[in-house]
Amino acid sequence: MSEITLSRDPAHIRHGSSIGQPLTRRDGVLKVTGEARYAADNHPPKMLFAVMAVSHIARGRVVSLDVAAAKRHPGVVEVMTPQNRPALAEDPDAKTNPFTFRMELLQNDSVRYANQAIAVVIAETLEAATEGAALLSPRYEAELARSTLDAAESYVPPAVGIGHPAVVAHGDADDALKHAAHSIEATYETPPQYHNPMEPHAIVASWSGDALSIDTPTQGLAMAQGRIAGLFGISPEKIHIRSPFLGGGFGCKGLISGPQILGILAAKLVGRPVKLVLRRDQMYGPVGHRSATRQRLRMGATADGELTAIDHHAKITTSTFDDFYEPAADASHSLYASPVIATSHDAVRLDIGTPLFMRAPGEATGSIALESAIDEIAEACGIDPLDFRLKNYAEVEPITGKPFSSKALRECYAKGAEKFGWSKRPQQPRRMRDENGFLVGWGMGTATFPALMFAGQARAVIRSNGSGVMETGAHDMGQGAWTALAQIAADSLALDLEHIEFKAGTSDLPDAGIAGGSAHTATVGVAIHNAGAAVIGKLAELAMGDQRSPLFGAGNAGVVARDGRLFRRDDEARSESFGEILARAGVAEIEARGDGAMDPAAQTNYAMRAHGAVFAEVKVDPDLGQIRVTRMVGAFAAGRIVNPHLVRSQYLGGMIWGVSFALHEKAIVDHRSGRIMNANLAEYHVPVNADVPSMEALLIEEHDPHVNPLGIKGVGEIAITGSAGAVANAVWHATGIRVRRFPVAIEELVTK
Ligand code: MOS
Repeated sequence: MSEITLSRDPAHIRHGSSIGQPLTRRDGVLKVTGEARYAADNHPPKMLFAVMAVSHIARGRVVSLDVAAAKRHPGVVEVMTPQNRPALAEDPDAKTNPFTFRMELLQNDSVRYANQAIAVVIAETLEAATEGAALLSPRYEAELARSTLDAAESYVPPAVGIGHPAVVAHGDADDALKHAAHSIEATYETPPQYHNPMEPHAIVASWSGDALSIDTPTQGLAMAQGRIAGLFGISPEKIHIRSPFLGGGFGCKGLISGPQILGILAAKLVGRPVKLVLRRDQMYGPVGHRSATRQRLRMGATADGELTAIDHHAKITTSTFDDFYEPAADASHSLYASPVIATSHDAVRLDIGTPLFMRAPGEATGSIALESAIDEIAEACGIDPLDFRLKNYAEVEPITGKPFSSKALRECYAKGAEKFGWSKRPQQPRRMRDENGFLVGWGMGTATFPALMFAGQARAVIRSNGSGVMETGAHDMGQGAWTALAQIAADSLALDLEHIEFKAGTSDLPDAGIAGGSAHTATVGVAIHNAGAAVIGKLAELAMGDQRSPLFGAGNAGVVARDGRLFRRDDEARSESFGEILARAGVAEIEARGDGAMDPAAQTNYAMRAHGAVFAEVKVDPDLGQIRVTRMVGAFAAGRIVNPHLVRSQYLGGMIWGVSFALHEKAIVDHRSGRIMNANLAEYHVPVNADVPSMEALLIEEHDPHVNPLGIKGVGEIAITGSAGAVANAVWHATGIRVRRFPVAIEELVTK
């Protein structure tokens, strides 16, 4: 039990009672018993079912739809097309700011990508709506779709990611490479990846006059509310969104998507509540995806293995009608010390849905290329890949020269390597076999992700019965926010978890920002922490100014809150419970608000990142090329760990996605039609239990005094970085073959 210094309030809150405990999810029983109510579980009275009809071409226009046939089908109530779609207050193609993304809301007959909505059929049953959609028999005027990285002229995007420069040149890469004792040049390709959360996008929308009630999963309640308000020309307060549980988010539910808005439009058109749920295949287009990339890495090193240059170029894709640019090359900015670092991007416009945020956008794609290239240059230098990484360890952030607010990567390397048994690794490939004759390979990768914070708020209440309430419109995507944030709330109110009520997941609560960028726990945690500190501060004022209180006149010594009581710091025998203080004052409850946001001074002075090291073992059938990951160990340092149980689960999830990235996941596009051929969970491969036999995540202690008052860094996205590269490098170590196109295909291993 330790006290931590608060940034703006006196240190009168005791932390460590709930924070740090490996509690299981508070909503776990609800989820495993089927009691948790997801958006699509809602059935308000008189509700109708809406089904999207989607385009089978990727480019062109819809010439005709047999609306009459659909309407004749029993149970079909209405067919929404560009002809009768209710008017919007804002053009869905208006780009009001860089983070407003264009949507297809039946504004015209044009088709921008396959799986775009071209009509919505509304019916009494899901079956009738589905059948009605099938009867529309669309006819198209199709144009040749552009679907490959080489299908169009490329250009330098105005910015990548969230406003980062597309081109960064720190030193002269060509010159440094010319003088390097060792150098490599390699090109890596990563495929388009599409979102497959267990729960597809779903919405149940009901209008009552100009008030709108919605059940829908979202990672950003207030942003969704604002976007809907703008589109429909109503004030945000008129919109109530419930999003208590998400069946996965991963970025595709960060911004409200077109299909969700179509559900709201459908409800408006028919004047009844409407449910719209995307079919799995309809997820492959309108809700964002991870851009395909082609990345060229050039690296130079001195004779004894010190990096002299990193040149990372990424070619990426975006849609024909909007701008999102996967910042893949930026992965090279922050990890390895090199006097010269150059990164650049160029993009092509394709007939695809706009790529958007997908778990560790930029870092995930960039990391697999960077970590593979680091392995290649280490090999060129004849140095063990771990020793090479240690040799090129960045003591300060490369390019900016800023010190890290904290960095425990050395411990991650050391503890991960020890647990894995890395020291027994032969340096040459193809040196290890198992008892069945399979080739065994060991590889590693470094993980890193920025410790971001957005802006969020919370409201704290202490009631005269001594209990507390914490309210924040936070989002639980499955990561455990209901639990982790409640733990922070309990400590910030100096109460046990059983004595607080934690409210989250609806739009009427204080704006908690967005659950993205692995920033939610830090952002909302700090808001909660500040709200708790503020309400306890008020309580302390009340007591210290009251002659009848044992805390009267505590003065500069002040009070400390613990277990629902305030104690005088200079004499702990003098104390009073929260309830006693409020009851005597005749106050039923007191409340205060708190904000969570990045401290700009700390941000200016420090580079803030979480770090980790991942080690992987693969076994490859020497005849068939079949690859199995048999063992993985990841060690991660991400500041204060609010709940080790939940954090480990985030790390394991990230590592599994790393396996997926390296070996499984890939959208296969039919380049004749521009359609995705494997838009289903049978053929869009993701790892199953048999693909992940043994996996361990080590939590490395890290105290970061600068990142935020709670010392919390995000844990959601970091573990996908490093992991994919570790698996790819292990494949090389097993086989001696550098596969540079992901996911690694068996034919790459058998034909060589
Ligand atoms: Mo994410 S891609 O920040 O949900």
